[in-house]
Amino acid sequence: VPFLRILGIETSCDETAAAVVERDAEGHSKVLSDVVLSQLDEHSAYGGVVPEIAARAHVEALDELIEEALARANVSLADVDAIAATSGPGLIGGLLVGLMTGKAIARAAGKPLYAVNHLEGHALTARLTDGLSFPYLMLLVSGGHTQLILVRGVGQYERWGTTIDDALGEAFDKTAKLLGLPYPGGPAVERMARDGNPDRFNFPRPLVGEARLDFSFSGLKTAVRQAAQEIAPLSDQDVADICASFQKAISRTLKDRIGRGLQRFKAEFPVTGEEPALVVAGGVAANLELRGTLQALCDKNGFRFIAPPLNLCTDNAVMIAWAGLERMATGAAPDTLDVQPRSRW
Ligand code: KG4
Ligand code: ZN
Repeated sequence: VPFLRILGIETSCDETAAAVVERDAEGHSKVLSDVVLSQLDEHSAYGGVVPEIAARAHVEALDELIEEALARANVSLADVDAIAATSGPGLIGGLLVGLMTGKAIARAAGKPLYAVNHLEGHALTARLTDGLSFPYLMLLVSGGHTQLILVRGVGQYERWGTTIDDALGEAFDKTAKLLGLPYPGGPAVERMARDGNPDRFNFPRPLVGEARLDFSFSGLKTAVRQAAQEIAPLSDQDVADICASFQKAISRTLKDRIGRGLQRFKAEFPVTGEEPALVVAGGVAANLELRGTLQALCDKNGFRFIAPPLNLCTDNAVMIAWAGLERMATGAAPDTLDVQPRSRW
């Protein structure tokens, strides 16, 4: 394997990030730097990410973050082999900022540019952190995505399931909002749920029992709203019970949906030696109850359950640099400088 060192740039949502990752000739990979600036404070007053604010914040921060990533890695631009920048999916303003910056650096420094799909970054992270080999299943659960993806190889992805309405993180955020909990809602709902009774409300578990592997969470949110309206004004205990019941409904849903995915994987790839693996990524993967559910499901089905460290589960530039590295290592041609960002890629 060739020695490769890549500078990664991520600006698709509300995190501005830059990182340097390398892999040596023996195949050992190393994160040389990982710089992330969260814009959370700038958006929280609005209860969600405001695209225009995000784009401007990326413009203000990105140059310095890249300098910092190079400095912490103790390398200069001359020492990197390529630039990798997220070019979709995501908020178009932020994507433009990151991709244009990546193009400019690539042009000025005479380096190849890899325009990376953000989801590919999430999908390949477990190969950096756990040396996982293909194929494996990945569940991405964030504020913007809920997808079950078969990862066959670099550039070879099959989407087995997706949400037909809200993303899972979005369901947490909206539920939190209607219960008067702060943004982002996931951590707040999880905290409240600890003191709640998960059996007080019997919330719906959409699509449970269906053969296809999709998800749906908007009905759940509606059921929470109705329950909250019926018993208003809500005491703290009411809120805790709703949160606990909400999480239980999600746990049950994941158990059914992902359980089917694991069965399908086993049918398509009969076990030959190494245990099959399920990787989880995205901010919702921070939720301990959902993690416990997935761990138990994997144990039961003979799967390894892999959850990369939280800073690499949520948005970061290490995964973008790594995806660029993996593509370069396969000998794939870099992107040309007329490559365009794709909001809905
Ligand atoms: O991956 P991420 O940081 O950003 C993107 O969406 O790209 O995910 C953020 C989402 C938010 O919807 C947030 O509410 C959710 O992840 N989240 C959680 C928890 N921590 C963050 N959801 C449930 N439980 C948590 N502990
Ligand atoms: Zn993400």
